[in-house]
Amino acid sequence: MTATDYELLDSQLRAMLADETDKLAATSNFVALLFAALDDVNWLGVYVLRGDELVLGPFQGRPACVRIPVGNGVCGVAASTGNTQRVADVHEFPGHIVCDADSRSELVVPLIAASGIIGVLDIDSPSLSRFSADDQLGVEKLCASFCALLDNSDRRFI
Ligand code: SME
Repeated sequence: MTATDYELLDSQLRAMLADETDKLAATSNFVALLFAALDDVNWLGVYVLRGDELVLGPFQGRPACVRIPVGNGVCGVAASTGNTQRVADVHEFPGHIVCDADSRSELVVPLIAASGIIGVLDIDSPSLSRFSADDQLGVEKLCASFCALLDNSDRRFI
């Protein structure tokens, strides 16, 4: 598997979203950019924080569960703690929510804007231990750039 060039992705993200004012379009392209760039990933998408639930937003992959209570599953724990969850084997994660039975490992990064957590980015792989510490760092930087791009415009989120 080729190592992902996260610096290149970051500059592509900034160029892609520089002049975009539509939140839904910006989020959709953020998700599509990452899905196209990452090897060995079967599902990648955003869940948006609405009250005490995460609600499905733009994604690539099979249809997924629409609502996840904050605190439940890998996504809900990322949202409630504000910490990235890098799970080597989803079957070992207490309360993991199965959306695509092919998923074996998962990386969930909170999306943190100036106002606080606005959602999470969820990435699933059919391979065990797909995500390295470098992947975590790279994706966290991309999420930070994405949130800053949203903050620096009149956009808040979808
Ligand atoms: N596995 C996630 C649910 C979302 S899907 O993987 C798309 C979780 O446990 O929160």
